[in-house]
Amino acid sequence: ELNFYLYIIGTYLIASIPFGYVIGKLFGKDVTKEGSGNIGATNVTRTIGKKAGILVLILDLLKGFLPVYYAKYLFWDTKLVAIIAVTAVIGHCFSIFMKFKGGKGVATGFGVLIALSGKVAFITFLIWLGTFLVSGYVSLASIIASSFSWIIIYYLIGDLNITIAVFISSLIIFIKHSKNIDRLINGTEHRFIYK
Ligand code: G3P
Repeated sequence: ELNFYLYIIGTYLIASIPFGYVIGKLFGKDVTKEGSGNIGATNVTRTIGKKAGILVLILDLLKGFLPVYYAKYLFWDTKLVAIIAVTAVIGHCFSIFMKFKGGKGVATGFGVLIALSGKVAFITFLIWLGTFLVSGYVSLASIIASSFSWIIIYYLIGDLNITIAVFISSLIIFIKHSKNIDRLINGTEHRFIYK
């Protein structure tokens, strides 16, 4: 019991680490004030470059992957694993170190998905890639792929707790993209370019 609560708090704190912001600062930039203002890998790539972006992508992904991967071994109950999965996404999106603002949850959510099911993560990634290649918008690819992720995990894994966790995560990702959705509708969303 106590161990589980400590694990939740640990997961939240680790997922709260704003790697995009920290790495941006190392490059002398405040990514919250440039480009989309987001602390994610997309905006780090946009405002700093590809190498920094890939580094942020990997670190943000690990924040989701590691807590869920170990939770699967430590806690037998999928309800507990589901709580850890959502906690990781919440940590990134509502970071205690960023006055509860944080990022949009795509890389961290994808890390969570890899830990839950490699197969589901792979199919979700293909949807992301297809949408990105056709549209040129990272945000649209993220919104569409995450919207399908909970349906895919429901059909391939079938566990209700895990499905609900992925559904809540995709809802958070969707809400966090509200400004991107406005820009996509207005035709003012940034297409993906890197320095
Ligand atoms: O991972 C976030 C991505 O979907 C959009 O990022 O910086 O274009 O808002 P950005």
